[in-house]
Amino acid sequence: MENFTAYNPTKLHFGKNVIEKLPDALQNTGKNILLITGQGSVKKYGYYNQVIEKLQKAGKNIIEFSGIKPNPVVDDAEKAVALAKKNQVDAIVALGGGSVIDTAKMINMAYANDLPVWKIMKREVEPVKRIPLFVILTLAATGTEMNGAAVLQNHQTQEKIGYFSPLMYPDISFLDPTYTLSVPKNQTINGIVDLIAHSLEAFFSGGAVPLSDRFVAANILETFDYAPALLNDLKNYDLRARMMWTATIAENGTTMHGRTTSGDWGTHALAHHISLLWDTAHGETLSVMFPAWMKAMRPKIKERLQQLGFLLTGKSIKADETIAIFEEFFNKIGAPIRFEQLGLKSHDKQKLLNLWLKNKPIGMNIILDEKDYQKIISYL
Ligand code: NZQ
Ligand code: ZN
Repeated sequence: MENFTAYNPTKLHFGKNVIEKLPDALQNTGKNILLITGQGSVKKYGYYNQVIEKLQKAGKNIIEFSGIKPNPVVDDAEKAVALAKKNQVDAIVALGGGSVIDTAKMINMAYANDLPVWKIMKREVEPVKRIPLFVILTLAATGTEMNGAAVLQNHQTQEKIGYFSPLMYPDISFLDPTYTLSVPKNQTINGIVDLIAHSLEAFFSGGAVPLSDRFVAANILETFDYAPALLNDLKNYDLRARMMWTATIAENGTTMHGRTTSGDWGTHALAHHISLLWDTAHGETLSVMFPAWMKAMRPKIKERLQQLGFLLTGKSIKADETIAIFEEFFNKIGAPIRFEQLGLKSHDKQKLLNLWLKNKPIGMNIILDEKDYQKIISYL
């Protein structure tokens, strides 16, 4: 087992009506709150009004920035930073899914340190300060509610990249599964794929840590268990709660401790290029990319695939059979598993390959080269 530091400062309130705790949570922050939201779902389903009511009860001035799009862009973050500066905000409240929360994290870094968002993300400058960040999650998927990561796109530079800082863990996250009852079926499928992909990214890091491996397998088996029932019963609170908790656990450090790196993330880096080129939902890019990556990397990860297969089935199975478990599961829940199912043509694969060749995405544990890109493309 590798040395590690377990650090997760986020306090998480989970369950029905946890929003009631928001006014108390804000007691020691300043008056001016920057509220970040997406493209309208929170208003449509009433979560927005509940949050506004709590902010008013806490006596706050609300400065609002809405319209954050899925696959969020750096330009929106910069616009919100300008608004934050104009109003000298004291804290940020993010109400939404991963896109809203990730943008709020980067707004925080850029505003508190007076630095450009993209320079921070490219690690050309280093933030050292933060303001308080409170998160109200409406979509179970990314795990951003309890980690220090954010992902943004920049269309000028043709990149979609992640940034991690210990300064970006939310202070408090509010997870009421009731807020996810309105998530449509396709986004629910995307969230399920994403949390499985995060579990797999952890597993394909290096080092031998049986407990972290067992956490991965437990999270995947739990998801296999509730997912089909949830997709037939989207308003079921208990099934939504199970999904919400697995999504948080998949990327809050639980599955990463003691490994050589905190996940591999090669598959994510490759898949982000599909979102960048065609604005494809994050989950859809992963159900297509993970099986292809596993097939292409099979010679390097054969033993790990067998170990994962054993943890999932209790039997010694072949590497290919482990890959088939995931491909079949994604297919069963209605997630795309082939490039063409994303509405793309086979000639679009060349565009994707060209962008990989330009940006050179690599894993943190399994380093990819140009031959690997060709192989992965052939399995898409
Ligand atoms: O924009 P609104 O109107 O809010 O609608 C959203 C959006 O259209 C909708 N939605 C959210 N909550 C809803 C809801 N609709 C009905 N009811 C609700 N309760 O869902 C759509 C997708 O939202 P989005 O926030 O984009 O989804 P998700 O949470 O999957 O976030 C995806 C983003 O997170 C990044 C991805 O790359 C992508 O940009 N990731 C962030 C990570 C992190 N910070 O740790 C790790 C992940 O691997 C991932 O890369
Ligand atoms: Zn992801």
